[in-house]
Formats: sequence, structure tokens, C-alpha cells
Amino acid sequence: MRFDFAKAGSGLTYEIRNIVEVANHLKTFGNMEISWENIGDPIMKGEKIPQWMKETLKEVLDDDISYAYSPTKGSNKAREYLAAKNNARGGAQISPEDIIFFNGLGDAVARTYASMQVDGRVILPAPAYSTHLMAEVLHASFPANTFQLNPANGWEPDLSELEYKVQHYNSIVGIMLVNPDNPTGYVYPESTLRKIVKIAKDNDLFLMFDEIYHNIMFDGCDTPLLADIIGDVPGISMKSLSKEIPWPGGRCGWLEIYNSGKDVAFDRFISAIYQQKMAEVCSATFPQEALPLLLEHKEFSQYLKDRVAHYQKLSEIAYNIFAGSPHLIVNKTQGAFYMTIVFKDYVLNNNQTLPTKDPAMNEYIEAKLSEQSELDKRFAYYLLASEGICVVPLTSFFTRTNGFRVTLLEKDVDKFTDVMTRLKSAIDKYIESN
Ligand SMILES: Cc1ncc(COP(=O)(O)O)c(C=O)c1O
Repeated sequence: MRFDFAKAGSGLTYEIRNIVEVANHLKTFGNMEISWENIGDPIMKGEKIPQWMKETLKEVLDDDISYAYSPTKGSNKAREYLAAKNNARGGAQISPEDIIFFNGLGDAVARTYASMQVDGRVILPAPAYSTHLMAEVLHASFPANTFQLNPANGWEPDLSELEYKVQHYNSIVGIMLVNPDNPTGYVYPESTLRKIVKIAKDNDLFLMFDEIYHNIMFDGCDTPLLADIIGDVPGISMKSLSKEIPWPGGRCGWLEIYNSGKDVAFDRFISAIYQQKMAEVCSATFPQEALPLLLEHKEFSQYLKDRVAHYQKLSEIAYNIFAGSPHLIVNKTQGAFYMTIVFKDYVLNNNQTLPTKDPAMNEYIEAKLSEQSELDKRFAYYLLASEGICVVPLTSFFTRTNGFRVTLLEKDVDKFTDVMTRLKSAIDKYIESN
């Protein structure tokens, strides 16, 4: 090439998928079956698409409009439906023009951060869901600003840290959070969210809530939507069809924009997001046309309730297996379909191992790791090689806290119980190894 023209990356890796390469390589050492506990895809974990959903999609396919470009902001029918649904709750009111569709929420996330000036920063919770953190860091090419979720306090955020940082770092223009949270499974109580709204209002910031898991919340937990509590603060809710429907391969996500027209800088930001989308023409029409029919289908609500009850059951099984360990901090998942387990301080070191079938596997892992590698990554790689269980190290969610995330998506309860039991005994063996 005439010159080195590739853009510099953020220097960060998306470990949720990166670890798949390690797992696939380890498989080549012999017939090792992998339990994939890393990716939040219900279909890959055995969720069967119900017949009513397939029939609905076939109907949509019969309509020629599904093959056309849609308006840049998205299908009129879908946006009218979503605006009316939002407005019926009585919170921040929107028009269909305040909704923009994307090819999945991941696409919306990337374009949203890319529409900010490099010196405008969004503060994120840590652990942070990788798609947000990487998009935020990539747009700014500088380390992220985060506020800690505290595992020793049920993952409650440290609001004094949040307030201190937004008051002292003038580059921060917005606060983002995921509710229910990925990776922790934490659900923000209303009182905490109201304090965050106040911090945003007092400091002239916008709010961005990723609410992709809002309808996946366990019994006894409740949380408002951003629209319910935002008042007159400018904000964005991020939503998607990937999880609750579940249709991650449909690549259909959208932004709902609250309080447009009240702040010039915020309006210019939204307009920059829209201009980017316009340059691309529009997002995929088919899932947008299907959206109102799927969400209003008479079978949908019970189907989702049954799935949520299953995730809750798995969360209780996992909690009972791990809780009580002297080495771990374990919190019950309250929503979404993940559980994050934390290693207590000083439990892990650089000499711990697990037995593997082939010394070449140990060599491969050690070559992949370095003295600087995070200690939970070392644990995750040995767990993979020894037990064939693929988890995501917690430090890959951009926190110094060591731990790992598993999913609660397995359809077979016995299999899930067996995998979690083996995982717990592997933890004990690993820690005792040195
Ligand atoms: C919190 C969160 N936001 C966004 C996404 C991306 O969703 P989509 O499949 O719509 O791109 C995910 C996917 O796992 C997620 O967990």
C-alpha cells in the first residue's frame, strides 16, 4: 500500500466474541464439547421460535412493502405504534418523528457515539457493556469515564463518584446506563434512577438509557422506563427486538428521543445521528413491518412471561450453587439473562491452573496469556481448556474487578445445573492449585 491508511483501533477487544476463537482452537486438541455461556443469543442456546411468530413473519413476507426501502427514520407503521405505546404510559410524550430505527441496537449505539464531537464524553457504568464502551472510546480515542457498580452492595452504583466526575470533568455531556444491566443482571430501583436524573438536570447533561432488557425482569423487581421519570431532561431510550421477541438475527433496534426541541446542542446531536442514517438510506424494512404484529400478538405476553420465569429459575439454581463460597461475591440476577460472579480480592494469582487433557493445551493457553494478562482471563482460559465451559472474564467489561459472566439462557435445566456445578468445583480446584 502507498501508506498505512488503516484507522487505529481503540486498542480494546470484544472478549465476548474473542474468546470464541480461543475455544475453537482448543477444540482442535480433541473431541471437546463446549458449553457456550458467553453470548446472549437465546436461539443459539436452544430457544425454539414459536409457530405463531413464524406465521406472523410469513404474513409480513407476503406484503410487498416488506421488500421496499423504508423512510430513513423507519417504517411509519412501526414508529406510530411505538410512539402511541410510549405516550399511553403518561411520561415524556413523543411523536413518530422522535424515533429512529437502526440495523440492530449495536448499530444505533455505534452511530450515536459517532455523532458526538471527540471532546464530548459520555460517562458509563463499570462493568460496562462492551458495545457501548468500545463505541464511546472509539469516538474519542481516549480512556472512558466510568462510575462503579458495587458488587459488595448488590451492584448499586456509586452516585457520589458519578456526581463528582460530572462536576469536575467538563467534557462529560451525558450519562449512559443499561437497565436491567448487562453484564451484572442488576435492576436500578426508581429512587436511584431519580437521583441520576437529578444529577443530569443539575449539570446540564443528557441521559441515555439502554432499555433492551426492560421486559425481562424477575418477580419482585420493578423499574421505571426513562420516559416515566425523565421530566424535562433531554434523553434517549435504546430498544431492540433482539432479546424479548427473541430475534437477534433480525437486526432491529431503535432510539426514542425525549424532550427534543428543548436544548439546541441536544437537537444538533440528534440531527447528526439522523443525517448519518440518511446517508445510508434506511434500516432493514422487514423486521420493522413485523414489529407491531409481533408485540401485539395475543400469544406474545404469555410466551415472554414463560421465558422470563425460566431465566429466573436458572438464576436461582446458579445462585444456590455459588452463594456461600468464601472466594466469591454472588448477587442474584434481577433482570436480563446474565449472572456475574466476582472473585474476592487476592483469591486469584498468576500460578493457578486446572488440569487439561493435553500438555499442548497448557502451552497454547500460556502463550495466549502474558504476565500482564488479567487474572480472571487466565481463569477463563483454563476453565475452557479443562472443562469446555466458555465464560466471559469480567475485566473484559472494562473494570478492574475480577470475575466472570455466564448466561441464563440454557433451555435444559439439568444441563445448566450440571455446567454450573462443574464450574463451581473448577473454581475451587483452580484456587486450591496455588
Ligand atoms: C445492553 C445491550 N445493548 C445492546 C445490545 C445490542 O443489541 P442488538 O442485537 O439489537 O444489536 C445488546 C446485545 O447483547 C445488549 O446486551
